[in-house]
Amino acid sequence: GAVSANDNALWEKSTLNQILQRGELRVGLDVGYMPFEMKNKNGDIIGFDVDIAKAMAKAMGVKLTIVNTAWDGIIPALLTDKFDIIMGGMTITAERNLQVNFADPYLVIGQSLVVRKDLEGKVKTYKDLNSGDFKVTAKLGTTGQLAAERYLNKAEIRLFETESDAALEVVNGNADAFVYDLPFNAIYVQQNKGSVFHLGEPFTYEPLGFAIRKGDPDFMNFINNFMRQIKGDGTYDRFYEKWFES
Ligand code: ARG
Repeated sequence: GAVSANDNALWEKSTLNQILQRGELRVGLDVGYMPFEMKNKNGDIIGFDVDIAKAMAKAMGVKLTIVNTAWDGIIPALLTDKFDIIMGGMTITAERNLQVNFADPYLVIGQSLVVRKDLEGKVKTYKDLNSGDFKVTAKLGTTGQLAAERYLNKAEIRLFETESDAALEVVNGNADAFVYDLPFNAIYVQQNKGSVFHLGEPFTYEPLGFAIRKGDPDFMNFINNFMRQIKGDGTYDRFYEKWFES
């Protein structure tokens, strides 16, 4: 009858059906966001999101293709079918959720700060940086930019295309602090101990979720059940320990 014909049409259009027909899962992400996606010395794209993407493609029985995309254009790229899903540590925000659908959160993080070493002891919370005396950097189009504009609006805010350029400004002493997701900052500070310190108390609440195009209940159902399975069977914990606790 009418109901099953409708269900069929939905499934025909589903991204999941197209992935299976194509034999390929295309994942959009933005390389440089440690430890979720970055390049190793051989130039391979590795990280937490990449391991989950590989496991997802395997569960679908298809090959994985990674589509590296600049962050400020990543939602338009999803909407114009450059790939099937964003797996890039994207914070679920109401504004983004008007354009895309998010699977259930796979991790919760917050913004923290990479701060110039000279300011250690003087700057104790993000509030201390909210003054015209300070220059703050962030990556374009991120929730770091939003947090800077919201909580550090008295400081001079400078935006950069990549997280490495934005953070390097602080290392070089051209800026006082860089606002970004805590996991990235924790690693970055470890790698640049001599010149920066971590103001590591997160000051925002940010659930991260995979994003897909709207109107696709079949694909959403697969993603959420796949994630529930790997969270329950130890796979997710193995990935988490590999990328966040070493
Ligand atoms: N969680 C932040 C946001 O959603 C930053 C994510 C950046 N991800 C990336 N792959 N570069 O804006």
